[in-house]
Amino acid sequence: MAQLVGLIVSDEDEFRKQVGRLLRSGPVPISVIDERGPRENTPTDVVIVDIRADASSAMAGIERLRAASPSAGIFVVALTGDPDLILQSMRAGANEFFVWPPAEDVFQGAIRRTAARRETTQGARATATTLVFFGAKGGAGTTTVAVNCGVELARLSKKATIIVDLKSGLGEVALFLGVRPRYTLLDGIDNLHRLDREFLRELVVKHKSGLEILAGSDQFDRPGASDGGAIEELLRLLARQYEYIVVDAGSQINSCTVAALYAADMMFLVANPDVPSVRNAQRLLDRVRQLGACGERVRVLLNRAAEPYPIPPKQIENALGHPIHHMFPSDYKTVSAALNSGVPLALTGNSDIAAQFDSFTRRVLDPGGEAPPLPTAKRGLLGLEKLASIW
Ligand SMILES: Nc1ncnc2c1ncn2[C@@H]1O[C@H](COP(=O)(O)OP(=O)(O)OP(=O)(O)O)[C@@H](O)[C@H]1O
Ligand SMILES: [Mg+2]
Repeated sequence: MAQLVGLIVSDEDEFRKQVGRLLRSGPVPISVIDERGPRENTPTDVVIVDIRADASSAMAGIERLRAASPSAGIFVVALTGDPDLILQSMRAGANEFFVWPPAEDVFQGAIRRTAARRETTQGARATATTLVFFGAKGGAGTTTVAVNCGVELARLSKKATIIVDLKSGLGEVALFLGVRPRYTLLDGIDNLHRLDREFLRELVVKHKSGLEILAGSDQFDRPGASDGGAIEELLRLLARQYEYIVVDAGSQINSCTVAALYAADMMFLVANPDVPSVRNAQRLLDRVRQLGACGERVRVLLNRAAEPYPIPPKQIENALGHPIHHMFPSDYKTVSAALNSGVPLALTGNSDIAAQFDSFTRRVLDPGGEAPPLPTAKRGLLGLEKLASIW
């Protein structure tokens, strides 16, 4: 699935807020742009037009939008479902008509139709799949999983793939891959206005697997709270140049990671089978739901899974109310040897963990593929009752 770009046309802040939330809470990732900002180069896929205040003069505006974006889905929101108004809106170029406030399931159905139409539109621009890796806690293995998935994606798909290191203050993606970047993510977000194919080629470093790397910041306080909008724009621009975008988002929720979560086709929450990880994962899943990002896009990954499990995988699933999508074994020797040599596991030969990265990535490329069974745990050290009493 590919990310859509949405535009809300309304004078009312509350409308923009509510519709923005509605757009972002569905199963199709949508990046919402501001009609008041510069957007000459940003083609829109869905435009929500508020005609509640003045329906009759809004028709000319809808016609202009239709002329400017012939393939966009135009959604009109009115105060009443007056048949004449519906007819006028459709004649002006609207695809969907809603009475305020729109019912969520009906609205999401219209978004799905728009996404499906765009995918089948001839000449539709190339779009990316964005995979965001987020740690349930620091040190859970987020960078290890993101980097190895990025390398495998580039190797297996042979398509343009980039990994973006979003962690503020000395991200480690480039180090894990043994490359020395000249530029970082900050050079990208501070020069968005000139971020075309040529400039991007200067900013990224290419790994021998084919994976391109937009290295992490070299400043401790950036990207920071004020960079969220620029990160959203950066991901939108990258989506025009790459087929796969892998994001190492670290383990802190801030405006930049939220921007990445909104752009994600899939968000992978990396946890370890221990109490702090599971408790944090539960809180993060709640937070993701509160932010309005769709739970359908979240996948839980269990890293450093080794028997005897401090908490068995089935109990973790029960505690999270979410299935475990994939498990990676614990193998410190192999992982740290790869890390210290800067050669990712995918390129270092045979090991169980390398095989798991391979099968995980094949599932990303073919989501309908078969999932490996979860191991049936022997007796865990913590019972479910104990787990429940911890939080
Ligand atoms: N499956 C694994 N088995 C054993 N050790 C692992 C595994 N995955 C990661 N590690 C080790 O755990 C440590 C932390 O890994 P990594 O840097 O990927 O975590 P992180 O979540 O990105 O950390 P940070 O929060 O600092 O960004 C590293 O030393 C790494 O070698
Ligand atoms: Mg990391």
